[in-house]
Amino acid sequence: MALAGLGNKDLNLIIFGGKGGVGKTSCAIATALALSQNFKTLLISTDPAHSLSDCLEQQIGYSIVNIEGAANLSAIEVVAEEAMSEFIGSNRDELKKLLSTSTNLDDDDIEEMLALSVPGIDEVMSFKTIIDFMEEGNYEKYVVDTAPTGHALRLLSSPELLDEWIKMAAKMRWKYRYMITSFSGSYQPDDVDTLLLSLKKTVKRIENTLHDKNKCEFVPVCIPEAMAVNETERLINDLTKFGIFPGQMVVNNVMVSEGCDFCRKRKVGQSHYLKMIRERFRGLNVVEIPLFTEEIKGLRTLKRLIEFLFEDNMIKNNQTGNLNG
Ligand SMILES: Nc1ncnc2c1ncn2[C@@H]1O[C@H](COP(=O)(O)OP(=O)(O)O)[C@@H](O)[C@H]1O
Ligand SMILES: [Mg+2]
Repeated sequence: MALAGLGNKDLNLIIFGGKGGVGKTSCAIATALALSQNFKTLLISTDPAHSLSDCLEQQIGYSIVNIEGAANLSAIEVVAEEAMSEFIGSNRDELKKLLSTSTNLDDDDIEEMLALSVPGIDEVMSFKTIIDFMEEGNYEKYVVDTAPTGHALRLLSSPELLDEWIKMAAKMRWKYRYMITSFSGSYQPDDVDTLLLSLKKTVKRIENTLHDKNKCEFVPVCIPEAMAVNETERLINDLTKFGIFPGQMVVNNVMVSEGCDFCRKRKVGQSHYLKMIRERFRGLNVVEIPLFTEEIKGLRTLKRLIEFLFEDNMIKNNQTGNLNG
């Protein structure tokens, strides 16, 4: 079995998620590399413990860089705190006005408040950054490497959180609006209203993308071990609550060798969980990746991973050229 359909024309957001250490980053990078054979691709890491640089053996940071040796692939490691300060920086006047017109805070209090970190803000800003990239439309495929499960779920629930804030801000504004209308008889929407409206549109865009299975695919990554299988099951259940229904998953680190006693024992141990995975995730296309003798680092080993992830499926799907070039 191989991952299927990622070359479909409308599918432009592909998110890898799962437990820590199961191979999310390796699979995300390999997928982005494979897709870049046919599509202009942006690889985005939202994991605060970024590891794209290590795996690609190239310095990547919070600005888009081209990946050496892959003509159509660029990458970025999103730093949520920086995304947040950029947002505050470019909307400072509007945010100050929102707070000064609807609270009793003085200028110093407002500055202090804007400097505060708000729970959940990281994920909201990470997702806003992804959506902004998609809106700019410079790439055909956006492949996202996430941090372990809890973080990925927070990332996916971020539009809801942003929506709650907008509602709260709109409520605060309503009183101000009422006051202005009472005094002057009418109210002209200002730059604060424009900001809230644009944030509301961001929420809608995120939701529309996430819930459209033709546009967005979430690929859980798992390994054949008890904790990982249970966590994947919870992840898939939680995803369905967000209206996301994975159609395929990767099972990584599968022991294939029987060349020594250790390998044979590991293989027997894994076979129980492989069976469990096939039963519990019936209906999903399960893609098994062998445990390699070496870590996945650099283009050479990534190409090996691509061969297992895709075989020649992507070529069949879009009929445009050869993946493994
Ligand atoms: N199939 C595999 N065979 C051998 N090593 C692997 C395999 N998949 C991943 N690795 C290695 O396991 C470690 C964790 O993989 P990584 O992709 O960083 O996981 P995650 O992003 O889920 O934390 C890395 O050192 C990676 O090179
Ligand atoms: Mg990772």
